[in-house]
Amino acid sequence: MSQGSSFGLDGRVAIVTGGGRGIGRGIALALAEAGADVAIADIDLPNAEATAKEILALGRRALLVRVDVTDSQSIGAGVAEVLAKLGGVDILVNNAGVVQDNTDAVVTAEDFDRCYEVNLKGIWSMTSALVPHFAERGEGKIVNIASIAGRRGGALSPYSASKAAAISLTQSLATTLGAKNINVNAVCPGLLWTPMWEKLEGMFGGSTDPAVVEKRTAFDAYLKASCPLRREQTPEDIGRAVVFLTSAAAKNITGQSLNVDGGIQMN
Ligand SMILES: NC(=O)c1ccc[n+]([C@@H]2O[C@H](COP(=O)([O-])OP(=O)(O)OC[C@H]3O[C@@H](n4cnc5c(N)ncnc54)[C@H](O)[C@@H]3O)[C@@H](O)[C@H]2O)c1
Repeated sequence: MSQGSSFGLDGRVAIVTGGGRGIGRGIALALAEAGADVAIADIDLPNAEATAKEILALGRRALLVRVDVTDSQSIGAGVAEVLAKLGGVDILVNNAGVVQDNTDAVVTAEDFDRCYEVNLKGIWSMTSALVPHFAERGEGKIVNIASIAGRRGGALSPYSASKAAAISLTQSLATTLGAKNINVNAVCPGLLWTPMWEKLEGMFGGSTDPAVVEKRTAFDAYLKASCPLRREQTPEDIGRAVVFLTSAAAKNITGQSLNVDGGIQMN
């Protein structure tokens, strides 16, 4: 599919934050399958290494860099390493994200700070580090991983607010960076059974007991009640949406936020 296709990414280089596991891993593998070389920028090096090995097995170049998106020094060093070792960057996927530690009944100031720092300011910091490079090349593609929680609020106010702000930031960045030929879009995933949702299961299901969490009670109930297609989404689904948005086929799409959620949210 990648060879000679306007949907392909042959010869492109991507950075995926939080690419070590979950959705980020799915995005990294989808980009590699479409032809891109991929740098995994994560705080979790063992997982990042495992994803990098999978990318190498697909015949692409892979690099792992320890980057904390809340730390400008590590961002600067990580981006410089990717530029030096992979020769340039075409695509930035701001996927790294966290949920709060508490439900709204006991939400803390720390919950707000952490969601803001990682889910919103992290996007801005990574983007700021790469814009000069994209501007010099005369092209760049940025995809921010937001959430349907940013479309509708819900029982996780720090998380939802940070994701709504990420959608807004996507629109502002698309406006200001369009003249440099930099496309900025977002993907809003719906329901994916990742380590992040396992943590939420403990909150919504009222238990962190592994035996209860194993049953995915809250996840399955929410899926059944809210998803028209009646099936959970997968990291591969999110990865394919990112491939489309970063390909030549989407060259005139910017400032958009695409729900990949089985129809849970229709605007
Ligand atoms: N799982 C879902 O149902 C769901 C739904 C909507 C949106 N999302 C969003 O998708 C993205 C990925 O979620 P996931 O479910 O794969 O989560 P996850 O917790 O499984 O993975 C998150 C990854 O981000 C990394 N990370 C966390 N903080 C970081 C930091 N400061 N710097 C660099 N890396 C960091 C982690 O090490 C991990 O590899 C997040 O932005 C999340 O909000 C997830």
